Amino acid sequence: MDAACDGPGRGLALLYAAAVFAAALPSESGAGLIVHGDALALLGGLPDGCAGLVYADPPFNTGNRRDGVRVRATRDDAATRRGFAGATYRTERTGTAGFDDSFDDYLSWLRPHCEQTRRVLARHGTFYLHVDPRESHYCKVLLDEVFGRDCFLNEVIWAYDYGARSTRRWSAKHDVILVYARSAGAHHFDLTGVDRIPYMAPRLQTSDRAARGKTPTDVWWHTIVPTNSRERTGYPTQKPLGVLRRIVAASSRADDLVVDWCAGSGTTGVAAQGLGRRFVLVDRSADAVTVMRQRLGPDVPVLDLTG
Ligand SMILES: C[S@@+](CC[C@H](N)C(=O)[O-])C[C@H]1O[C@@H](n2cnc3c(N)ncnc32)[C@H](O)[C@@H]1O
Repeated sequence: MDAACDGPGRGLALLYAAAVFAAALPSESGAGLIVHGDALALLGGLPDGCAGLVYADPPFNTGNRRDGVRVRATRDDAATRRGFAGATYRTERTGTAGFDDSFDDYLSWLRPHCEQTRRVLARHGTFYLHVDPRESHYCKVLLDEVFGRDCFLNEVIWAYDYGARSTRRWSAKHDVILVYARSAGAHHFDLTGVDRIPYMAPRLQTSDRAARGKTPTDVWWHTIVPTNSRERTGYPTQKPLGVLRRIVAASSRADDLVVDWCAGSGTTGVAAQGLGRRFVLVDRSADAVTVMRQRLGPDVPVLDLTG
């Protein structure tokens, strides 16, 4: 994969993107825009300070292509696969979807994206960068450089539990989400709309407190998207809606624009749409755009910057 899309073509793409975005950015609450194209072209075309929240879940640089199988389940009384309330379903493969995950120089690729992210964030804005533990320490140093150490807010650990276990080391079952404020001390953060979690020892709480639960910390236990769930799109590395809903609810205002520059199956858009935030999602994979269109519905326009 190229370190970045450079050269005169990129300059033209940025100019084109800037002109097109000025007209295409959503203005109504819950409205969105899907962009088929390169993340830097999108970021370069966005105005300064336009976004309250930017989330990015770039490829983790595993060195492999990531592919997922897309499966359609149809209710069928003669089938054997059981689902909700005992109903049976027939499943069929409707194709695969995926993206390349191999970089010559991951940090050189990431740096301009983070610099542009900082530029497009509003003063009260926040950036969430979702990475894995093999790259997270390098990414954190990079973000300290780009945003400033005083803008570091959190290293959120998303812990899950699925798949095979190692007998050679502790099984790796978490991702890292690095959180940086655009301006130290000025960021928006509000737990009011965030889901609450059960107390570990509810009997030590009053019944009211136990019933209400407590606010999450920086360690989030949350299942991956379950194989048989309605949420599952078949897009590889799809993140759970519960995780994105938490991020959007806490770190964006009602009138904010939420941007995801590696949107994949569009989970950030689904969370933003549900919470009435405006959103812009970009992905360079045609598979991703197809999945996003299906998930977000026909009212969300698609802008094609690949031509
Ligand atoms: C880990 S996936 C994102 C998954 C997403 N968070 C979800 O919940 O479905 C990373 C995505 O980044 C996209 N991507 C990689 N490089 C890109 C680039 N330069 N511009 C735009 N999208 C890119 C890939 O096509 C892929 O869909």
